Amino acid sequence: MEVVKDRRSFREACQLARADGKEVGFVPTMGFLHEGHLSLVARARQDTAFVPVSIFVNPLQFGPSEDLASYPRDLDRDVELCEKEGADLVFAPEPDEMYPARPEVTIDPGPLGERLEGASRPGHFRGVCTVVAKLFGLAGPCRSYFGEKDAQQLAVIRRMVADLELPVEVVACPTVREPDGLAMSSRNTYLSGEERRAATCLYEALARAAWLVEGGERDVLTLKAEMAKRIGAEALARVDYVAVVDEETFQEVDVVRGPARALVAARIGTTRLIDNLALKGD
Ligand code: PAJ
Repeated sequence: MEVVKDRRSFREACQLARADGKEVGFVPTMGFLHEGHLSLVARARQDTAFVPVSIFVNPLQFGPSEDLASYPRDLDRDVELCEKEGADLVFAPEPDEMYPARPEVTIDPGPLGERLEGASRPGHFRGVCTVVAKLFGLAGPCRSYFGEKDAQQLAVIRRMVADLELPVEVVACPTVREPDGLAMSSRNTYLSGEERRAATCLYEALARAAWLVEGGERDVLTLKAEMAKRIGAEALARVDYVAVVDEETFQEVDVVRGPARALVAARIGTTRLIDNLALKGD
């Protein structure tokens, strides 16, 4: 497996694979890889002949008071894990390589980018869309793999690809969880032992909402109150938002009619975590 750090080598390696008749199945990440990321690589490996993985902590998607400087990094370990999972190439640029100058042209994610995560993290989805579009421009992938863990990011990327006619298929992969339900996340490493135990409240809140919907509850105010109550019961947790959105449009709904998704964001101590779960309305 090759590791490249400059844009030109990355572009050329992907071009060469395509010239060889290989489809490119691209997995963008910010590194500090865990089973969630690796499930994307495994899926890409199943589908595609050439699998590049990018590892880049993208400054453009972090707010000024966020964790860009402290975001966990371990490139050697990540490279080893990618190799084990059967990736063909790792692209791990430094920020100056990715952005020789601050980009003047960026991608406006539209109204979907301003709600929920976008409201809590202004500019976040503009940064995500811009770096993903740049990476697509370099890799020229046939398919690219994203986790349902970041459901709004997945929805924004799908919308960007559709609205800008980008020639790439977006493949959604299910959320990989710890045995107690906590969604795997590079940010889980920030949690102390006590916080780690408290962090299961996000999944428990979502699972309670899903259980209530299965039992016939359709009123979103009730579902949101129940989720907030579960998270609020945890002394170390503070709710940022709870929401229920239509699975297709990602618009918030008042009543669960068709396929919907419950979303939560909360701080456990100083660590901000997000999670979501599908709700099976009828
Ligand atoms: P990062 O948080 O590193 O996640 C990379 C990919 O892994 C995303 O598609 C994310 O949804 C997926 N992922 C993370 N945790 C997962 C889990 N527990 N189960 C399944 N998939 C999981 O998301 C980003 O990086 C960045 O915003 C990026 C798209 C790379 C742009 O910078």
